[in-house]
Amino acid sequence: MPQQEQWASKLGFILSAAGSAIGLGAIWKFPYITGQNGGGAFLALFILFTVILGLPLLLAEFTIGRSGGGNALSAFKKLAPRTPWYGIGILGMITCFILLSFYSVIGGWIIIYLYKVITGELSGIQSAGYDQLFETTIANTPLSLSMQFIFMLITILVVSKGIQNGIERMSKIMMPALAILFFILVARSITLPHAMEGIRFLFQPDFHKVTSHTVLEAMGQSFFTLSLGVSVMVTYSTYLSKKESLPKSAISILVMNIAVVLLAGLAIFPAVFAFDMEPDAGPVLLFHVLPSIFSQLPYGMLFFCLFLIVFLFAALTSGFSMLEIIVAIISKGDKRKRKISAWIIGLAIFAFGIPSALSYGVLAEFKIFNRTFFDLADYTVSNILMPIGALLIAIFVSWIMKKSTVFAEIQEGSQMKKGLIQSWYFLLRYVVPIFIILVTLDVLGIW
Ligand code: PFF
Repeated sequence: MPQQEQWASKLGFILSAAGSAIGLGAIWKFPYITGQNGGGAFLALFILFTVILGLPLLLAEFTIGRSGGGNALSAFKKLAPRTPWYGIGILGMITCFILLSFYSVIGGWIIIYLYKVITGELSGIQSAGYDQLFETTIANTPLSLSMQFIFMLITILVVSKGIQNGIERMSKIMMPALAILFFILVARSITLPHAMEGIRFLFQPDFHKVTSHTVLEAMGQSFFTLSLGVSVMVTYSTYLSKKESLPKSAISILVMNIAVVLLAGLAIFPAVFAFDMEPDAGPVLLFHVLPSIFSQLPYGMLFFCLFLIVFLFAALTSGFSMLEIIVAIISKGDKRKRKISAWIIGLAIFAFGIPSALSYGVLAEFKIFNRTFFDLADYTVSNILMPIGALLIAIFVSWIMKKSTVFAEIQEGSQMKKGLIQSWYFLLRYVVPIFIILVTLDVLGIW
């Protein structure tokens, strides 16, 4: 059996896991659903759910990964031998396969825009022109497919290099770059005239605007942004040494994730208000509104270019983790198999993603259950597969694994107080499952 590779450093692990967490969810999805759900109140709920549901789940995934070891299948098999619980790993693999197939489509759009900014194609267009440009761009089949392919190619190349040489090295460069670029963007955005309105929108909660739908969206968003329920965090922690503290790692990732969400909000909303635009523009917010905003700023295209680079970094580091969970299971620590499986699975994901890319072009009218292929893939992953995975993981750690194993694993490398571990265990055993069941029933329309 080949020796299990390990992260070269604790920082490498934390940045890679944070890299998985921070992605389209924080930068693209969060601003538009916050915009649609009234601002501050949504942010407050999102932070609440991230802390009381997301953090316990993140720690649960770390516990499974480090105590089980191997990969997202063998970890479950080792912890619950001769039981079907390893199905959670299979579910994670399937979910990540579908997730990356449409995630890479948006990754491709970012590359298209980046190309357009660099070649000057986006300069000097009037506001409304950007909307049209976006529609025609993503409807261009050869262009969107080839850029989606490039996104997958980068992901395959990095994952095939393994964790230390690939994911860890890239994340160590990309994550700090992301932080620096975001600070520049926020500094620009909050010094615009009327920026205060945007800041108020983001931070002043108006709970009158909260509906049950807002609550559910906030919870789903907290799972999505922390990459929970798909065993990605299980996989990443199988490479973690016993010397490291799991609770501290989980908290660092949580703090970074919330920080980026806040930075994304602070970069976008002041600018939206400064230029008198609508915060509830929906999924198109980033692609429609941002070029218009940046084009009206001095050096706007330079700032937009920086923003797109940050965005691409963030999407890539999330993409790596989705491919990694599958490759880790198939290659079982064998370097040669890792390369081959990264290529085969990566190309299969690209092929599976083609109908999603075409959903914005020739397949726009092709609907299954009244949804385009892209929407169906997104809906299935975010509203069905991820919550089910998160529910099973919470149950696995708090009801199936031996309590003594769980507690011993948490205490390994950390000095977490027994009382705190008990509270975490309680949240995982009761609060998390009940919440998730309510959400799932609601999104399925049963509740
Ligand atoms: N956390 C990522 C984001 O917010 O964009 C999405 C994600 C990555 C979900 C990896 C699941 C996953 F396994």
